Amino acid sequence: MSQPASRPISRLDVFIARMTAQKAFLEQVAAALDVAGPVLELGLGNGRTFDHLRTILPDREIFVFDRAVTAHPASIPDGDHMIVGEIRDTLAFCGPRVGALAALVHCDLGTGDPTADLVKRAWLSPLIAERTAPGGYVASGIALDMDGFDELPRSDAAERGRYWLYRKSR
Ligand SMILES: C[S@@+](CC[C@H](N)C(=O)[O-])C[C@H]1O[C@@H](n2cnc3c(N)ncnc32)[C@H](O)[C@@H]1O
Repeated sequence: MSQPASRPISRLDVFIARMTAQKAFLEQVAAALDVAGPVLELGLGNGRTFDHLRTILPDREIFVFDRAVTAHPASIPDGDHMIVGEIRDTLAFCGPRVGALAALVHCDLGTGDPTADLVKRAWLSPLIAERTAPGGYVASGIALDMDGFDELPRSDAAERGRYWLYRKSR
């Protein structure tokens, strides 16, 4: 994304970069995914990325996590695939319901507050790492501490919009 060098980056610039990076990472992973397993969508929100994931990965089971269901009515998962509760609890104990380790975890839980995101990073990173299959991917709007994963290269939009992509070693 280019803009005149003479003005500072606005929050709208950052938001657009973030959405650009988010979409590009999800589509990059969808094209490259070569491991079995479901997709875990952390943060249903309005349901926009859930809807995009089911469009670009029509053959994958997608489990969605949120503390509440407030999505657009056209983008709500069925009851078997909507896991309601605090992710700190539900991600830790979802194994019997979800089954196989995930081929892709999409983490869209960022607050935009650096301190709150650091807190989330501390408890969330090991939970995501544990639920990801070898060779699987994690796309995240929070920087994570992913032991045993490689951080993949980031575009300018991902740098500016603060989006990260990791892949678990096989
Ligand atoms: C940015 S929104 C997700 C946007 C969504 N991916 C979309 O494209 O519409 C973040 C969502 O994560 C949920 N959330 C944040 N932290 C959570 C937590 N600790 N446990 C459960 N849900 C959480 C919020 O309720 C909110 O709906």
